[in-house]
Amino acid sequence: MHRGKGMKFVGDSRIKAEGKMSNVPKDYSEYPGKTEAFWPNFLLKEWMIGAVFLIGYLIITVAHPSPLERQADPTDTTYIPVPDWYFLFMYQLLKYEFASGPFNVIGAIVVPGLAVGALMLVPFMDTSKERRPFKRPLPTGFMLLAFAAIFYLTWESVVNHDWEKAAAQGAIREEVAFDAESEEYKIYAGSSCIQCHGDAFQGALGPALSDTGLSADEIIDIAHNGYKTMPAGQWTGSDEDLEILAEFLANLKSGE
Ligand code: HEC
Repeated sequence: MHRGKGMKFVGDSRIKAEGKMSNVPKDYSEYPGKTEAFWPNFLLKEWMIGAVFLIGYLIITVAHPSPLERQADPTDTTYIPVPDWYFLFMYQLLKYEFASGPFNVIGAIVVPGLAVGALMLVPFMDTSKERRPFKRPLPTGFMLLAFAAIFYLTWESVVNHDWEKAAAQGAIREEVAFDAESEEYKIYAGSSCIQCHGDAFQGALGPALSDTGLSADEIIDIAHNGYKTMPAGQWTGSDEDLEILAEFLANLKSGE
């Protein structure tokens, strides 16, 4: 047999290649004028295309810096993470009753498992040599169904998400400038407040105490009676000290 004559091009996984592949290296001498040297011709073209993309990405990253949030805090259980856009459909799926809570296995394993499993079976089930989509109604139908489902779920998750709240919970907070020797800080450090609100008012179990927008009276009330998930009875010191602390906290602003 002529070298190269028996070569088969297999471009479609559904079409079986007859015969055995030989381990003789491929020979392209049958295609005069359609080949080129790898070095430097081909590589140079590759590099030029590569450079175009590289510069393109560079421009995009400079024009749209990544939307960084503040440093992740593993103790902050109020933070609700959201996946990137390409996984929002999964995120949305897990919100439905039939796929969450006691049925989590359905949303997290069964449905994705069926989808990926079906994808792997396609080469075995769709063996027709027909290539035009409308001549292969079943595979085309299933693919469109999958597209529609992913599109719908992504859409639902975007319109139902509270993006303003999401931006607020991740916002980078400026540090609070304070004098660790001041009377106010000593009162704060001597109270229970510091355990949950951080040694620099940055927050820990509880939120940051800067920029609360609360008045001194409201803070005094919170110190005595608690607030939502903050337990009551946190203040054990004197009324005078609490007044000084509350006045200080009411005026505590970040970035000053
Ligand atoms: C056991 C932990 C804990 C201690 C101790 C504690 N807090 Fe809190 N605090 C919290 C939590 C948690 C919240 C958030 C409540 C919520 O929004 O559900 C909170 C909220 C607050 C808020 C409202 C903040 C805002 O922006 O809405 C203020 C003000 C506050 N605390 C002041 C104090 C003061 C003053 C003390 C000391 C007397 C104190 N806390 C002690 C846990 C604590």
